[in-house]
Parts: sequence; C-alpha cells; structure tokens
Amino acid sequence: MENGKATLTIGNENWDFDIHDGTVGPSVIDIGSLYQKTGRFTYDPGFTSTGSCSSSITYIDGDEGVLLYRGYPIDELAENKDFLEVAYLLLYGELPTPEEKQDFDFRVTHHTMVHEQMSRFFTGFRRDAHPMAIMCGVVGAMSAFYHDSTDIRDPYQRMVASIRLIAKTPTIAAMAFKYSTGQPFVYPKNALDYAANFMHMCFAVPCEEYQVNPILSRAMDRIFILHADHEQNASTSTVRLAGSSGANPFACIAAGIASLWGPAHGGANEAALDTFAEIGTVDRVPEYIDKAKDKDDPFRLSGFGHRVYKSYDPRAKVMERTCHEVLDELGIKDPLLKVAMELERIALTDEYFVERKLYPNVDFYSGITLRALGFPNNMLTVLFAVARTVGWVAQWKEMVEDEQRIGRPRQLYTGSTLRHMTT
Ligand code: SDX
Repeated sequence: MENGKATLTIGNENWDFDIHDGTVGPSVIDIGSLYQKTGRFTYDPGFTSTGSCSSSITYIDGDEGVLLYRGYPIDELAENKDFLEVAYLLLYGELPTPEEKQDFDFRVTHHTMVHEQMSRFFTGFRRDAHPMAIMCGVVGAMSAFYHDSTDIRDPYQRMVASIRLIAKTPTIAAMAFKYSTGQPFVYPKNALDYAANFMHMCFAVPCEEYQVNPILSRAMDRIFILHADHEQNASTSTVRLAGSSGANPFACIAAGIASLWGPAHGGANEAALDTFAEIGTVDRVPEYIDKAKDKDDPFRLSGFGHRVYKSYDPRAKVMERTCHEVLDELGIKDPLLKVAMELERIALTDEYFVERKLYPNVDFYSGITLRALGFPNNMLTVLFAVARTVGWVAQWKEMVEDEQRIGRPRQLYTGSTLRHMTT
C-alpha cells in the first residue's frame, strides 16, 4: 500500500484502489470499482472485514474496549447525562444546550401518546405472544397512522418521524408488557422524565398511585444510554439496508426490531437469564462451561463474546455496577447473580475463553438488573429495542442525509449452471 493506494495483483495484472482514512480507527480500501475493473467480487460473509458506510456517530475500539458516542466515552455519558441528552447527541452531533434540552425534552414528551386506534392492534395478539412479536407488528404499523411523516426526502417529516419513534416506542413497549399481563394500558404522564414515564406505564395500575423510585428510574435511564447505539451492528445494518431502498422510517425501525430479536444479538440478554436460571446453582457452573466449550454442543454462553470487542465490553462494566446498585436498593439477594459472577470468574481464567478473547458483553448483567426492576425475561430485548431506537433513527437519518445508494450485495454462486427441462 503506497500513498493512500492499495494495489491488487492477480497473475500478471495489477489494479490500484484508494485508501480512505477515518478520524480514528482502521482505514478502508475503497473497492467500489473492483468488479468493474477485475470482474470479481469480494467475499466476506458475516462482514468481518467489510465497512458498509462512513459514519460519525459511534466509534468502537474492540481491542481497547472503547465505546464513544460522537467522541464522548460511554461511561462518562452514562454517569453524567440522561437518555434524552444522549439521544440529542446521537441525532445532532453535539450535547444540547439547556435551551435545546428543554425544547427536545418537550417535543419528545408531547409525542409519547399513540393514536388511540393503535390499541386495537393488541386484541389481535394472543396474550402469551412474545412482546418482541408485538413490537415488530405495532411499530411497523405506525406507518399506517402517521402518513404525514413518511416522506424521507422532506427534512421536516424526517424530524417528526424521528421524534415520534423515540417518543412512542416506549409507550408501545409498555402496552406490549401490560397486554401480556392482562392489566389495562397506562397512558404516558408528561410530568415524568423519559425513564420514569416508561416505568410508570409498565408498573402503575389504576387502583393506586405508583411512585417511581428515583434510584431505579435513574438506573433504567442509564441502561437505555448503554444500549442506545453501537456502530454498524446487525440490527443497525438492517435498518440502513431497509432505509437504502427509500422505505419509510417506521418500517425500517420495525426491520431493526426483527433483527435485534435474534439470540446472537439483542436476544442474548433473555437467553443469558434463561441460562442462569437453567444452571440454577453455582455448583453446576463447571458443567455449563464445559458445554459452552464443546464443539459438538450448540450451547453458547449468552452474554459472552462479541464480534468487535476482544476485551471487556465497556458497557458491561457500567451494567455490572448498575446491577449491584439496583439489587442493593431493592434489598434483593438474587441467586442468579451468584451464578453469573461464578460463570464470569471461571470463564475469564479458562483457556478456551481467554484464547478466543471472549468477555462478558452488555447482555451479561442486564438481564439480572432488569429482572430486579420487575421485568420478565421476555421483556428484556424489548427494552433493548426501546433504547436502540435512538441509534437506529440517528443512523437512518445519517444515511438518508448522505444520500446513500440502495444496498445491493452480490454473491459467490455455487448452484446449477444453465440446464433445460427434458420432459
Ligand atoms: C450484541 O454487534 C454488536 O455491536 C452487537 C451488540 C450491540 O450493541 O448492537 O453489542 C449487542 O448483540 C452483543 C452480543 C450478544 N450475543 C451473545 O452474547 C450471544 C453469545 N455470543 C456469541 O454467539 C458470539 O460471541 C457473537 C455472536 C456475539 C459473536 O460471534 P462471532 O464474532 O461470529 O464469533 P464466532 O462465532 O466466530 O466465535 C469465535 C469463536 C468460536 O469458536 P472456534 O470456532 O474459533 O473454536 O468463539 C466461540 C465460537 O464457538 N464463541 C463462543 C461464544 N462466543 C463465541 N463459545 C462459547 N460461548 C460463547 N458465547
């Protein structure tokens, strides 16, 4: 590679490609002309070495365990800012001034109600429907109600759709939770902040006043911050690919929710908690460590490992502190925490995990924390989706404003060559 150029040699032919440097992190080789020059594609299933776009929103250094939102370290933001300040930062690139914060909070707060007819969607679901199934359906159905904010070429409509998604996703999530419990929906309360309002919609009942514990709602708010964005992960890439066709923002976010649901991605928090419950006691941990290492056993230790982090996920550190804070505040001695801590203790010294650089990720302690806050296992990925909606919207907005072309990958074809039917 010389002077910002990379040279590809195949046989006695050479082709040059530009190298672009970012502000920090790996440079990229621009291979957009590779097929036109060489008649060949790159091949990178899982995109382990592929940059899909340029972005100025989030930076991850997997080797150093660094996560920056618009340059600010995640632990600084989690400790010193609230979720809507971080949302503003992700959307617009700078932390809000007091006046900007007041205006943004007012706009989000006053969009938290959903169209009253949306509540009728819920009666079409079984009561035991997974809340993520409901989220996929109802968030996507927002495009059936909010036609006045689906023209992605109009900056004003993009802003309105962004605010509606950030404001109404928690309301829909709380409705999905209430529907699963058979309790009546609880309307948003404008006097409450984002996290407190969400907890009130989830846990209040009409029969009595529900006072949100400020320590618990602050923990909820911090958990939202930790999950807000994470570069070009599977669900964000899904949102960008859906958005590249010009699909409306509500449909794109619904696609992101669907992708996040997978146990290899956002579904890992629910899977991790299920694993802790299956293990049950500390003395059974070695048996499951062996299962995780067994190539013939499909079992994986959920909440462990990451495509990018080859050191401790910085979010997991903040999440662990928050977990202990919430359990202490509630006076809960959760036996599953002992199981989780023993799993971590053994795994961090076991050659299999050390050699593969497998560390706890954001999903490892989040389940225990959220369970302590009162959420059942099947709501954990829903909470992840509520928080990640901010990142999805910010990344979608950046892509639309960058006027990215439709995403259309190619393939290595391994099927039948041309043949004709003989009968
Ligand atoms: C999230 O991308 C993001 O940024 C995602 C996310 C975000 O904020 O958006 O951070 C959120 O999705 C976190 C990850 C949550 N998923 C899990 O916790 C599920 C368990 N983890 C794995 O399935 C896995 O680690 C992935 C999916 C997270 C990463 O998979 P990779 O990068 O494709 O790695 P791999 O599957 O190739 O694993 C490398 C090796 C393999 O062993 P070998 O074939 O080399 O012998 O490590 C092993 C794997 O078998 N391995 C594990 C393991 N994770 C990887 N073995 C046991 N338990 C695990 N958890």
